[in-house]
Amino acid sequence: MKKLTVDLGERSYPIYVGEGLLNDLADTLGKHQIGTKSPHLIVTDENVAEHYLERVQSLLEAGGYRIATAVVAAGEKSKSLAVLEEVITVALEAGLDRNSAVIALGGGVVGDLAGFVAASYMRGVRFVQIPTTILAHDSSVGGKVAVNHRLAKNVIGAFHQPEFVLYDIATLKSLPERDARAGLSELVKEGFILDREFVYWCDTNAERLLTLDSEALQHALYIGCGVKAKVVSEDEKEGGLRAILNLGHTIGHALEAVAGYGELLHGEAIAIGMVGAARLSAKLGNPETIAAETERILRKFGLPVRIPAHMDTDAIMSAMMHDKKFSEGNMVFIIPKAIGDVEINKNVSSVWVKEVVEGLKRED
Ligand SMILES: NC(=O)c1ccc[n+]([C@@H]2O[C@H](COP(=O)([O-])OP(=O)(O)OC[C@H]3O[C@@H](n4cnc5c(N)ncnc54)[C@H](O)[C@@H]3O)[C@@H](O)[C@H]2O)c1
Ligand SMILES: [Zn+2]
Repeated sequence: MKKLTVDLGERSYPIYVGEGLLNDLADTLGKHQIGTKSPHLIVTDENVAEHYLERVQSLLEAGGYRIATAVVAAGEKSKSLAVLEEVITVALEAGLDRNSAVIALGGGVVGDLAGFVAASYMRGVRFVQIPTTILAHDSSVGGKVAVNHRLAKNVIGAFHQPEFVLYDIATLKSLPERDARAGLSELVKEGFILDREFVYWCDTNAERLLTLDSEALQHALYIGCGVKAKVVSEDEKEGGLRAILNLGHTIGHALEAVAGYGELLHGEAIAIGMVGAARLSAKLGNPETIAAETERILRKFGLPVRIPAHMDTDAIMSAMMHDKKFSEGNMVFIIPKAIGDVEINKNVSSVWVKEVVEGLKRED
């Protein structure tokens, strides 16, 4: 097992990465002062439940815990106020109190939803993250929790840090191939932001990562969580630096919104968005090789690097204007200056953005 720390003073917490860690979950909860007196709630989705819920529940019950469960439908649609209310109903009926914890067992959808339940139930109870997707290396660390609004993603939310993150690599074995690829998109992103060496490690080890080789995954998730932990430790509430984690997300979020949640997975939309950001970088005078390299590496992971032709450019542009990162008439973009180095640029011309969007629709 490897351990990282998200350094936030009194609210610092560990990220445990390793194989088979779920087996010791009851002990780990105990170590973090989550006791057996009050009931706790596991939030998960139907796919994850099928693979792991029974086992996790019986491991905890064997440890003397009383566990309620809320199983939501799989997919982004569960990040809604309606589902939030259903989960809170389960929490109330199970008698969760201020000493209870909400345990997210699943990917980013479950983590974001369960985290917002934890942040809002009785003005906040403790929260534990058990990520089961590759993408969730990102979502499970950092305390951003949210549900979506019909008009925009993640706009109803809070900052609510977990007590700990327990990443059991063994749970990733059951991940569908498309979700694995989408998760790898966001994992390589951590390298594009801050760690050139990691980008080329991923490039060299793409095949091992795609076949979910345990050793490769453990290394990559450790590095990926480390980048996230470092950035969050320096800027918890996105006063500045944390925004760099949004590389590819301005265009990516707009594509997700226009496609209707579902056509593009989050990581897929972000892959296209990263190519977009790299092309904007070239317009700002940086080398064109950044875009070519970004694209080559993402293609190696079988990720989409073009906007589906049927998507309307104006709809994409207006979705970007709703994006929280659009401010004061200028578009804010995270721009790669090199592989492994980015800047926050607040003066990106929307004309250029439109050109890049159109360009990404045209070629194959
Ligand atoms: N809070 C943050 O900082 C942050 C950061 C990045 C992304 N996100 C959010 O994360 C979400 C995407 O997360 P995701 O890609 O993990 O999606 P997800 O949670 O929908 O999981 C993807 C799919 O895999 C299934 N699944 C999960 N674990 C599995 C397993 N071990 N075996 C088999 N199937 C499994 C799920 O049921 C789902 O169908 C988005 O809503 C995004 O906004 C949040
Ligand atoms: Zn993301």
